[in-house]
Amino acid sequence: MKLSIEKSKQFVPAETLERLAACSAPANELLESGKGAGNDFLGWVHLPSSITGEFLAEVQATADLLREKCEVVVVAGIGGSYLGARAVNEALASSFDAILPKRKDPIVVYAGNNIGEDYLADLFEILKKKTFGIINISKSGTTTETALAFRLLKTLLEEKVGKEEARKLIVAVTDARKGALRTLATQEGYKTFVIPDNVGGRFSVLTPVGLIAIAAAGHDIKKLVQGAADMEKALGTDVPYAKNLAAQYAVMRNALYQFGKKTEILVNFNPRLHYFAEWWKQLYGESEGKDRKGIFPASVDFTTDLHSMGQWIQDGERSIFETVISVKKPIRKVEIPSDNENLDGLNFLAGKRVDEVNKMAELGTQLAHVDGGVPNLKIEIDKLDEYNLGQLIYFFERACGISGYMLGVNPFNQPGVEAYKKNMFALLNKPGYEAESKAMKKRLLGK
Ligand code: PA5
Repeated sequence: MKLSIEKSKQFVPAETLERLAACSAPANELLESGKGAGNDFLGWVHLPSSITGEFLAEVQATADLLREKCEVVVVAGIGGSYLGARAVNEALASSFDAILPKRKDPIVVYAGNNIGEDYLADLFEILKKKTFGIINISKSGTTTETALAFRLLKTLLEEKVGKEEARKLIVAVTDARKGALRTLATQEGYKTFVIPDNVGGRFSVLTPVGLIAIAAAGHDIKKLVQGAADMEKALGTDVPYAKNLAAQYAVMRNALYQFGKKTEILVNFNPRLHYFAEWWKQLYGESEGKDRKGIFPASVDFTTDLHSMGQWIQDGERSIFETVISVKKPIRKVEIPSDNENLDGLNFLAGKRVDEVNKMAELGTQLAHVDGGVPNLKIEIDKLDEYNLGQLIYFFERACGISGYMLGVNPFNQPGVEAYKKNMFALLNKPGYEAESKAMKKRLLGK
């Protein structure tokens, strides 16, 4: 993996970069020493290097069981209990995975990440005609979106195959001891995996939260973990700033933020990375957006969004910077044919691969946006495979921890996500929320 920050340097004074670079080492050190805010959630820091082959084999065996028995695997989870698995699965799969004619792998679909009635009805209509299993993921076990979807999915599965068989097709990933899902799983005898106490949702993709669903989709979790473990070594406190890519990224984004660049846009030129950006948005948004501070993490898929958001980025308010994930080599090959009539005027591209055109779009966009006053950071990976994704995941996690500490926030809590839940429970008259319900009714009546 390579990080290039050259095309951002002109937007911040060199002294700022030097000052912040000096702060990055103590911030990185806090992740090791555990003396910083949120230090009870640092289990992800050495997670990749501590995953054993035995543990991966257990995850794989569970995934294989679902793979043998199911045409569809439904992953029920939301936020940190969902985005990592989807990010990796979509980055590694055919963009047309769901309609591949001959499949050896089950189709992995997602539920419990919204409360759309049509979404659930559409899903159940398909599931009625397929063999399916469920991976239910919830650390708290009480998240409404996930619990609701699971209740419906479980009912459907039990109706279809009977209670006994359904039990074998359900995997629960949850807290070791507490929560409604733990109780339910113990009572029903589901195969369970533990979400470590000291790993928060958005840092949990390399725990069973992400690994089972990724293995169920047919991807190599050993290589994913290996990539992350190698990156863990490359970003440690013993690695100096000049070589520490996570520190460099954290420094540059904090410098840009201090000079008015309040929004970071994660850019890809490969549609398979759409959900990777969704994962990244949660990681940075939930970690840094607090105490009335934090870069707003946004994302675009290029060149698609150059035809919509391109105008704003080129020419709108100069409060943004871009971080491009550039994939050096495509997995597949498509060559542009020559055409005798050349009515579309595209013969100048004949013989080239589609990716050559994409790369020129990428370079042209970078130059145009930098000319237009948009600082540009580029992260280059060799190809979209498990190893490189593992590297990218750990890189962004480590940089996020460093960056959050440099910003002066606790990067590992998320107090802000409770507000909507409290209102929703009050509106739904959830037991225990009587006082809030009463206050809510008064408020809505304008009293
Ligand atoms: O990062 C987080 O903590 C959140 O996004 C949670 O992962 C999300 O709310 C789901 O929570 P749970 O796993 O308890 O169902």
